[in-house]
Amino acid sequence: MATDKNTIQSYDAYALKWAERMRSGKNLAHTFLEKPAMYQQLPNLKGKSVLCIGCGTGEECAHLQSRGAKKVIGIDISKGLIDYAKTSYPNLAFHVMDMEQLDFPEQTFDFVYSSLTMHYIDNWLDTLRGIHRILKQHGTFLFSTHHPMTWGAEVTRMSESESRVLGYEKHTSGEYTVFGDYFNARKVDDVWFNEFHVSYYHRPLSAIIKDIRDSGFVISDILEPKPLASVIEENSNFYAIYGKIPLFMIFELTKPV
Ligand SMILES: C[S@@+](CC[C@H](N)C(=O)[O-])C[C@H]1O[C@@H](n2cnc3c(N)ncnc32)[C@H](O)[C@@H]1O
Repeated sequence: MATDKNTIQSYDAYALKWAERMRSGKNLAHTFLEKPAMYQQLPNLKGKSVLCIGCGTGEECAHLQSRGAKKVIGIDISKGLIDYAKTSYPNLAFHVMDMEQLDFPEQTFDFVYSSLTMHYIDNWLDTLRGIHRILKQHGTFLFSTHHPMTWGAEVTRMSESESRVLGYEKHTSGEYTVFGDYFNARKVDDVWFNEFHVSYYHRPLSAIIKDIRDSGFVISDILEPKPLASVIEENSNFYAIYGKIPLFMIFELTKPV
């Protein structure tokens, strides 16, 4: 199943707000956790051709360019975000494109980067095969995605409290209440920041690894990034939680000969 239509509409409609959020540095999960880990993992990009999938507002493309890439192309399914990226970075190339239907010739790129986008699609196997096709031999695909342990948890959002629980409670009656569902792959409908309606797909780690292996990629690294300690000054709760509970996972895949 393709990216949920409401999710694309949300990214379109909130393109400006999303951009402000990204640039303000107030998105702690991006600024203090995911981006530092992704950028630390980048290979030497000098002279390389690079594709950035789910590029959003384009900052990541600018970063990849600043690391010496010869050519960077950013793609995103949201026209609103691509319009924003084109205006912000007129010297970079951006296209509205669905990652499930990559429109590039075989072996075009040395490196493909995708930050927090894979969980919006259900069909990982065909998408991974598509990315494998457009990578050169020995090319790398680096991506981050939801950590399934945390995103398989049951989320309760109320005005006065919020919880995210994967586990069970045994009652004195002897009955159990089970919270969350790690094993069953499924679509999850969610609301972020009280206004951003989004749907993503949960899948267990074994399903992720099976699709990666079946697509022909080899896993060269797996990371479970923790927040930078500098987030404590901004929000000590964020550090207390995500220093212990994994929010995202990073996979580095290689296309073998
Ligand atoms: C969480 S945002 C991440 C944006 C950017 N990579 C970042 O980390 O700031 C996810 C992005 O994936 C894009 N997206 C979702 N489904 C997509 C698809 N099938 N093909 C391309 N982009 C997609 C969304 O429009 C959105 O810009």
